[in-house]
Amino acid sequence: ESAFINRFEPAVSAGSPPLLLLHGTGGDENDLLGLGKMISPGSALLSPRGRVLEHGMPRFFRRLAEGVFDEDDVRLRARELGDFVSEARKQYGIAAPIAVGFSNGANIAAALLLLQPEVLAGAILLRAMVPLSDPPTADLAGKPVLLLSGQGDPIVPPGNSAKLAALLSQAGASVTHRVLPAGHQLSQADLTLARDWIGKVD
Ligand code: MLT
Repeated sequence: ESAFINRFEPAVSAGSPPLLLLHGTGGDENDLLGLGKMISPGSALLSPRGRVLEHGMPRFFRRLAEGVFDEDDVRLRARELGDFVSEARKQYGIAAPIAVGFSNGANIAAALLLLQPEVLAGAILLRAMVPLSDPPTADLAGKPVLLLSGQGDPIVPPGNSAKLAALLSQAGASVTHRVLPAGHQLSQADLTLARDWIGKVD
């Protein structure tokens, strides 16, 4: 069973890559549509709602505490999300998407890259951390990844995002990692950098 409540908006311009929008804890499928349009106005947008509830707040996988993940659930939920993307690609006739994930959504996107690299064409990871302590050896050859971290992020320690960048680079991804003068919340710089970066991929 891989049904996700979701929103889909078709592409406005044929040359723009589809985006898979992945919200943060407590968000939903509507949250990132505006962000998606800002960073890539022509793109098809596929935006699922996380199927795990934490005190009523949708997420993409279970956690034991803030920053402490139920890794079996990470693997299971990444599989479900990958299946959903494959189904949606057939249904809507879209290419492999670039994930745009924030916080918990960025963490499941990172897990998807490591576990099922074929699902994504690339990723913008906003405030992501290492999703698995013992990830498989993925082949991310040439996949573009933009990782934007906040230097004062109380949830993601600087060493953790650096480790994620290293992990993805070692797997062959073409990683751009920027540490912004921000906390866990997004800043204007995130939007500008994401928009500029996506304009250069493809
Ligand atoms: C997570 O649980 O994925 C991270 O702690 C980020 C968050 O959702 O707060």
